[in-house]
Amino acid sequence: MLTHQQFGTSVDDAPAAADAEQARRPLRIAVIGTGYLGAVHAACMAYQGHSVVAVDADAGKAAALAAGRPPFFEPGLEELLAEVAPTGRLTFTTDYALTAGSDVFFLCVGTPQQQGGYAADTTYVYAAARSVAPYLTSDSLVVGKSTVPIGTAAAVRDTMAALAPAEVTVRLVWNPEFLREGVAIQDTLHPDRFVYGVQGPTAEADIALLDRVYATSLADGTPRVVTDYVTAEMVKTAANSFLATKISFINAMAEICESAGGDVVKLAEAIGHDERIGRKFLGAGVGFGGGCLPKDIRAFRARAEELGLGQSLAFLHEVDGINQRRRDRVVDLVAQLSGGGHAGVRVAILGAAFKPHSDDVRDSPALSIAAALQDRGAHVRVFDPKAMPNAKHVAPQLQYAADMWDACADADVVAVLTEWPEFRTADPVALANVVRRPVIIDGRNALPGSAWTAAGWTYHALGRAAAASALPRKDSHS
Ligand code: UDX
Repeated sequence: MLTHQQFGTSVDDAPAAADAEQARRPLRIAVIGTGYLGAVHAACMAYQGHSVVAVDADAGKAAALAAGRPPFFEPGLEELLAEVAPTGRLTFTTDYALTAGSDVFFLCVGTPQQQGGYAADTTYVYAAARSVAPYLTSDSLVVGKSTVPIGTAAAVRDTMAALAPAEVTVRLVWNPEFLREGVAIQDTLHPDRFVYGVQGPTAEADIALLDRVYATSLADGTPRVVTDYVTAEMVKTAANSFLATKISFINAMAEICESAGGDVVKLAEAIGHDERIGRKFLGAGVGFGGGCLPKDIRAFRARAEELGLGQSLAFLHEVDGINQRRRDRVVDLVAQLSGGGHAGVRVAILGAAFKPHSDDVRDSPALSIAAALQDRGAHVRVFDPKAMPNAKHVAPQLQYAADMWDACADADVVAVLTEWPEFRTADPVALANVVRRPVIIDGRNALPGSAWTAAGWTYHALGRAAAASALPRKDSHS
């Protein structure tokens, strides 16, 4: 048998070696909430070697994930679940009792916009905290990943402390998640950075434990920023506010270009060459939607107002307003391109998801434009490659087409509002044969305008007065 000496360690080093061994042990992880964030996080943690129990109150969702069928579309997730399944390291359940004995409890539930208000609804975060509290020990760590208003982390810790077994010191880190839908796995395994919001006497041990969870990504060189709770809470909403502001900035420039005769795509390219500005997130078009950017800027403003700091974030009201105006602009444009009115105009809406490579239709510009057009008397037909079931669920009043061709059949106006690859590469010559009038609105500056014009289309792109001869932008959004 090999002795410690043979490994080059002295007997005195044995406890240190045991500690090191212990530190390398994969962890038992609980993930609460299996939406876009939780399901991807659970699968990625299991992929990285941890044993994961993921809990969701929705039995249907847990069963679908357990069967390897995500209840939403996220590229690569089904394959990742299939890869992890044979290891036995990933369990989906509705039973919180299965989380007993976990080293780390991740809170990954949603914080949607409140009904009838702008603030975030934190109900699910507190419910998750109350549910895990009985299973906590002084060795376990709760890690909040949800996007929450300032002050939530401290209050969540108090909530759990009141419900945890009496002798337990409740330990909590706030660790916001920055994943983008469509590239969520990549963003989880290779994030731009980790943010650890820590507070209290166990902070050092909390950091060390979370480092063990993320050992693989940290070893790859992912930066880690340690902050207090408030800063960590703010990092996420500040980042999303910045991104939203950047998009609305270029869309404000688009408004000027449309009126004054400029080309916003060229403008973005030119200012984007300045490294301090950068080209990313300067994609002008129908603006931002989704489950994060719109509600996060509103919740951030609402919280600032509660704190008596409304003025500091008043500009976000304008950011939101510019974004909304882009949707209104497309609605107006349809009328403008159809002789002045909406009544009876047949509009093909290509896209329903808030962005390509996602089936998420939350606050989707495409669906909101489609609904506004229909309200004004237009006949809309919507098609999206992945988001049809979700779109039909949230906007059942709209007409849906079987495919792009079906949507465009006899259309007076075609509007590309989500830049799916199949729309970007659609053949303008073939499509011209199925429409009633070859008029296209490029709501994402994603099409090769000159090819559409050459095929006889009236091509209109947002923010480009001379769009007919312009080339599409080359960048991707991410
Ligand atoms: C966003 C943040 O990027 C992510 O870091 C955070 O964790 C969650 O919120 P996501 O909502 O998945 O991610 O989408 P994102 O890629 O940021 O796009 C948001 C919206 O902005 C989409 O509707 C997209 O079409 C739009 N957008 C994006 C533009 O209109 N122009 C751009 O240049 C970029």
